[in-house]
Amino acid sequence: MAETTGTATPEATAAANGGVGEDGVRRRDFINIAAVSFAGVGAAAVVLPLVSQMAPSSDVLAESSTEIDISAIEPGQAIKAVFRKQPLFVRRLTPKEIKEADAVDISSLRDPQTLEERTKEGHTDMLITMGVCTHLGCVPLGAAEGEIKGEFGGYFCPCHGSSYDTAARIRKGPAPKNLEVPDYVFTSPSVVSVG
Ligand code: FES
Repeated sequence: MAETTGTATPEATAAANGGVGEDGVRRRDFINIAAVSFAGVGAAAVVLPLVSQMAPSSDVLAESSTEIDISAIEPGQAIKAVFRKQPLFVRRLTPKEIKEADAVDISSLRDPQTLEERTKEGHTDMLITMGVCTHLGCVPLGAAEGEIKGEFGGYFCPCHGSSYDTAARIRKGPAPKNLEVPDYVFTSPSVVSVG
């Protein structure tokens, strides 16, 4: 019988090994790997536009700060504005309201903060807070003319009876925190930029 000599090709080796090549990788595995790689590229191609859609557009960024002219707000008055689609209370305190806020023993508060910590230096009379109750997010009363201010003279949330004082600090009821003070700066003595 004649001997057969020569070098086996990878295909021949694979055929002899039941489809497994010299490197141990079967051709079907290669096809699977290639398919998965293309799927990976496809997924990345889909994800990238989604991520860029999730980034805030320029008009949303422009909305992220709000300029408010406070010159017409008299002591004892407040206005409601909108900041990032949520109500914002801008209130000019009377000297009596400032005195009441300063007279409170801070250690007795659930969320201890002084009025000075909640306002800007030199503008203690200008109290700017979100108009969103820190319990479950209702809009408290007390900013508009004629609305009740609750027993501590600030804001009252009728949803579950939270009362805030003249520094918008929680004094009674289920709300856990004071009304939030957003970031803001005075851009002039009569204009604040919130956000
Ligand atoms: S949401 Fe204001 S007290 Fe519940």
